[in-house]
Amino acid sequence: MKGLTPFLSLALLTGLLTMNACSSKKETTEQKASIEKTAYGQLAGGQTADLYTLRNESGMTAQITNYGGIIVGLTAPDKDGKFEDVTLGQDSLSAYVKNNPYFGALIGRYGNRIAKGKFTLDGKTYNLVTNNMGNHLHGGTVGFDKVLWTATPIEGDEPALKLTYTSKDGEEGYPGNLNVTVTYTLQKDNALKIDYEATTDKPTVVNLTNHTYFNLTGGAKRDVLDHVVTLNADRFIPVDKTLIPTGKLQPVANTPFDFTQPTVIGKRINDSTDTQIKYGGGYDHGWVLNGSGDSLKLAATVYEPTSGRVMEVRTTEPAIQFYTGNFLDGSVTGREGFPYKKRYALCLETEHYPDSPNQSSFPTTTLRPGETYKTTTIYQFSTRKE
Ligand code: GLA
Repeated sequence: MKGLTPFLSLALLTGLLTMNACSSKKETTEQKASIEKTAYGQLAGGQTADLYTLRNESGMTAQITNYGGIIVGLTAPDKDGKFEDVTLGQDSLSAYVKNNPYFGALIGRYGNRIAKGKFTLDGKTYNLVTNNMGNHLHGGTVGFDKVLWTATPIEGDEPALKLTYTSKDGEEGYPGNLNVTVTYTLQKDNALKIDYEATTDKPTVVNLTNHTYFNLTGGAKRDVLDHVVTLNADRFIPVDKTLIPTGKLQPVANTPFDFTQPTVIGKRINDSTDTQIKYGGGYDHGWVLNGSGDSLKLAATVYEPTSGRVMEVRTTEPAIQFYTGNFLDGSVTGREGFPYKKRYALCLETEHYPDSPNQSSFPTTTLRPGETYKTTTIYQFSTRKE
């Protein structure tokens, strides 16, 4: 410091200290990827459910419990780099057990509806549990969202949680013992990948999905009507008033179902002149994704202008159910202690078409012994400044 005035020396020292503080700050935000397990709570049967926290190097986290394979929390950065939760969730295991409108949950054996809970396979008719306007919805009264899965954490740069469950022959009325594996992977590129696999010992039907409710404002600050949605789909699946497909696909052109260009959700959601909007109470329909085959394709993009958050959904599935939380009525209180009201979130459930077991023109959902059911869906987060 010889030759420097005391003032300059102090300034230099402060500068050095600040630089140090910055570099150590950098170290703390760019942490190592990790997966941690904590006890989440006890179920009525005495089993313990665990909570796994997956973290990637940039600080994104996914919290997943092996009860229902529920995504309890998922953070994503806004345009200023602030991580906030972009999903709806509850504050305890008991809250999820008591009443969960499928927040974050794995759905099976059949995601969405099967008319009257009946289908015929190889000449034999099966009767499933009916739990929704006389139809079977999301696997019945005890679907895959309400069972305890066996969890295996997988460490690495892209931490993963492997969940397995054996659904017994006859469970909720379905034939065949079904061995299911779902793997959640938190990728480096701020994406959550979900790989689904299943095998059976008797012919059965399978349609697995995840029912996360998204609100990209972060912390579900308000409804999702100003989220901007693009769907890579020229056709959608019209339904009757119990939300069972009529069997005919309809072009989206000139209807409130046209999301081929980025469109604000609220623009046409209350178009009471449209019968399909009336039946769904808003959007609660399947869109048929453009592009054939089961390769990974861009299905949906969601943009929330105030936070700048963008979510892209890619899937190997042929359809996506776009549901705008029309049945939320404020009776479920979220993590932050305030009620989740109508349209406080949107779901983008990648899947086969609803009621496929009864609709011969739809892509098949039959799984036979010796075959492996395999699908992948990726939810990727980024930001855009406008
Ligand atoms: C799906 C269905 C909706 C509704 C929700 C859960 O998205 O299509 O009709 O049942 O699940 O409330």
